[in-house]
Amino acid sequence: MQTFTTDLLCIGAGLAGERVAVAAAEAGFGVICLSLVPSRRSHSSAAQGGMQAALGNCAKGEGDSPDVHFLDTVKGSDWGADQEVARIFVDNAPIAMRQMAHWGVPWNRVVPGTSTYFKGGKQFEKTEKAENEGLIAARDFGGTAKWRTCYAADGTGHSVLYTLDNRAVQLGVEVHDKVEAISLIHDGERCMGAVIRCLKTGELSVYLAKATLIATGGFGRIYRETTNAVINDGGGNIIALNTGVVPLGNMEAVQFHPTGIVPTDILITEGCRGDGGTLLDKNEYRFMPDYEPDKAELASRDVVSRRMTEHMRKGLGVDSPYGTHLWLDIRHLGVKHLTTKLREVDEICKNFLGVDPSKDFVPVRPTQHYSMGGVRTNKDGAAYGLKGLFSAGESACWDMHGFNRLGGNSLAETVVAGMVVGGKVVEFLKGYETFFCTKTIDAAVKFERERIAGLISGKYGTESVYQVRDAMFDSIMKGAGIFRNGKDLQTCVDELEAIHERAGKVSLRSNGLGANPELAVALKIQGMVKLALCVAYGALKRTESRGSHAREDFPERNDRDWLNRTLAYWKEGDSLPTLKYEDATPYFELPPGDRGYGGGKIIPADPAKIVVKEKNNG
Ligand code: FUM
Repeated sequence: MQTFTTDLLCIGAGLAGERVAVAAAEAGFGVICLSLVPSRRSHSSAAQGGMQAALGNCAKGEGDSPDVHFLDTVKGSDWGADQEVARIFVDNAPIAMRQMAHWGVPWNRVVPGTSTYFKGGKQFEKTEKAENEGLIAARDFGGTAKWRTCYAADGTGHSVLYTLDNRAVQLGVEVHDKVEAISLIHDGERCMGAVIRCLKTGELSVYLAKATLIATGGFGRIYRETTNAVINDGGGNIIALNTGVVPLGNMEAVQFHPTGIVPTDILITEGCRGDGGTLLDKNEYRFMPDYEPDKAELASRDVVSRRMTEHMRKGLGVDSPYGTHLWLDIRHLGVKHLTTKLREVDEICKNFLGVDPSKDFVPVRPTQHYSMGGVRTNKDGAAYGLKGLFSAGESACWDMHGFNRLGGNSLAETVVAGMVVGGKVVEFLKGYETFFCTKTIDAAVKFERERIAGLISGKYGTESVYQVRDAMFDSIMKGAGIFRNGKDLQTCVDELEAIHERAGKVSLRSNGLGANPELAVALKIQGMVKLALCVAYGALKRTESRGSHAREDFPERNDRDWLNRTLAYWKEGDSLPTLKYEDATPYFELPPGDRGYGGGKIIPADPAKIVVKEKNNG
């Protein structure tokens, strides 16, 4: 068995992982990134619309500032965000965008002069100033007061990932791909690295590191309908939860994106609505202004997804063999706009739907898209519970998104958190000496070898991996979707507990160690069901509605009792997570208030509990 030793082990080589890797490599530390797929195929490459940063370069972004970005982010989170972290994010986002430009990202740029744009299907004019020529441009996105989303057509993730990967290669960051981390090596106090399985040969190896970073993206694949790639199965969250000492934060906060295409659930960027696209019902009627007169299609995602669902429940959706959907209309944007600024959308519609979006409506429905929850860390990205373990990006909950993330804030978060956490990892590595305990390492490897042998020999039972996964999909789609209620959540939790037991009894129909997707799922299925239980159980216990967590039986946002974050721990042998709670934010720069969209009653907090801190201008 091979053993690799390095200073920093990044589990995940998407944008967040590679940005932390670059920071450590720049400081002279050895870094190895692990990836299920070649790094440039990481799910970051699928991000389309852009990255929010308050540059204020374009006409519709005039007057923007990190302060305005902060207000939008905290309101978007429905006051669930850690405001200290949201502040770090908004202040660093402009720096990160310019840094990316310097490293080679081909941002769309400001073109001076007067041009037209669409909003809600209507045409308007704007004039870009001559002195701003060539500066990084921005487009409109949901829940924002200004046009703030920096973009490279609608292939922003792709462009930034290729640029960052080039930078990582230049700095000598090693990427070991087609491998998966199946457990963390730890002694209950310190993380020492991970046990890794090669997806091609099935061989196990050990990676030892002073610092280990989890940057594996979201866990959308616990849902059947998701924009997430098959690799987004929560692998990093599972190995953290399995330690028993690292909690996951706010797992019940799951985002549904308004526009996944039907039936494949591939993302159609919010940029379509930002650029003036509208949502229509079966009568080709534009319904969003009736629900949200101010922001219409550009309210935040939780609100738009709920309104779409409400509208379909009234029988106004379009029936299809693949379920009910609504229409996205972007025909009026014209061929030139569609084939330049929305060219991936144009290709997806043509290649996956056989639909020409310059002539036809696009069938869309709300689809699972983003995990606000993840490995709970502090503002430096250090995981709770284990020294030497860090997390960044979607796999982490540091927690700038609270209960609803704004579009364009996560792609920006990858590089901002990567930069900030990267700096903190470097500080940590500079002052840290450690040792690796062979007894702990051997025990971790032995455990995994026996687990794999047991799955192949059929020792645990006869359950089919895929049937168990299907049962999980059915249960969570029904119980913990866009609208939730106590009865359905309780049923979901009960079902998932039984499914969790079944997941412990799977055996394989195949017997190969390498190149065996069934084995890869079998090794994760119990962990995936645990994640589903963290979502459903956390949602059951949170008896309020906040952001994406919409309880029909508790429609108020309850700041009196629930201005907090859920921490889910999993103790070995338990059938449910243990939930604890901590304050949502150490202080308020923006005290709780009304978001200005989405409606809903608020039960106010006790004013004595709202500690307000003025922004520190020093
Ligand atoms: O709609 C989009 O382009 C997705 C962006 C995001 O999730 O931030």
